[in-house]
Amino acid sequence: MTVVKRIKIVEVGPRDGLQNEPKIIDTATKVALVSRLGEAGLKVIEAAAFVSPKWVPQMADSAAVMAAIERLPGVAYPVLTPNLKGFEAAVAAGAREIAVFGAASESFSQKNINCSIAESLVRFKPLLTAAKAAGIPVRGYVSCVLGCPYEDAIRPEAVAEVAGALFAMGCYEISLGDTVGVGTPEAAKRMIAAVSTRVPLDCLAGHYHDTYGMAIANIYASLQCGVTVFDSSVAGLGGCPYAQGAAGNVATEDVVYLLAGLGIETGIDLDRLLECSAWISRCLGRVPVSKVALAKAASR
Ligand code: HMG
Ligand code: MG
Repeated sequence: MTVVKRIKIVEVGPRDGLQNEPKIIDTATKVALVSRLGEAGLKVIEAAAFVSPKWVPQMADSAAVMAAIERLPGVAYPVLTPNLKGFEAAVAAGAREIAVFGAASESFSQKNINCSIAESLVRFKPLLTAAKAAGIPVRGYVSCVLGCPYEDAIRPEAVAEVAGALFAMGCYEISLGDTVGVGTPEAAKRMIAAVSTRVPLDCLAGHYHDTYGMAIANIYASLQCGVTVFDSSVAGLGGCPYAQGAAGNVATEDVVYLLAGLGIETGIDLDRLLECSAWISRCLGRVPVSKVALAKAASR
């Protein structure tokens, strides 16, 4: 196994975690969540999404969230957006890092952003140009890298093609999303091997949803391939509005526990993270799906 000493965790709870919540969450709760995550030591917190409020009503107050968050030194607060309109709104709201999102599946691309993969890449281009001019780093997501709710198997080469196109366009990091959480470790390895022919391994991130309980295993497999960035969501919150039945992201608590066991530094305070997990779960009226949160709560 490649020896890795430090891993970057991208906390996506405030965006991926909340975007699918049926009840609209007030801005103050979202802002408090971002604060608590920062205090727990998360260094990258995806805070909001500048998408059409008709498509994702839960993210409609993203400008208000960005205006209210207290920025800790050394912490990045990227936001998601699919087009130039969202980019301009995000920058006006104070965003200093952006993420665009495409897919390796034609059907998912249509359902999620109402255009084909090729059209999405055309839309991202002016955004990347504007971001470059403004000195704003852009991350690229590819959804459905290990399966799609609307199509049969997704070929690793199809993932590599979209990931390569986003990287060539200027995205500094490509996050590989198992949107529906159907992937297994060997499939993840084959997909990463294919993508790494187009994007250097140190520019890849794993974004695993946990529908089938495979997310931690997929992270371990990805670590073995040399991937050093992982997306996760406190309390395992989340899901995608355009992937019915998909569970939330792997829980950040579980990733921190795994990495600590491997002797890998994250800089995250697990106790504070667990407090945050319990708090947001209470706010949403649910039990955390994190195994670590459940085990720690049971042992108190
Ligand atoms: P469209 O309807 O084709 O867009 O939607 P349009 O350009 O025709 O615009 C329609 C309306 O939306 C217009 O308003 C625009 O102004 C407005 P109207 O004239 O009707 O009042 N609009 C916007 N408003 C705010 N911000 C914007 C924006 N753009 C247009 N940026 C569009 C196309 C892409 C906009 C739409 O499909 C959309 O917003 N989709 C977002 C879907 C989404 O957020 N999905 C969840 C995030 S992706 C995810 O979770 C996966 C990930 O986690 C990785 C993984 O797990 O795989 C990242
Ligand atoms: Mg996701």
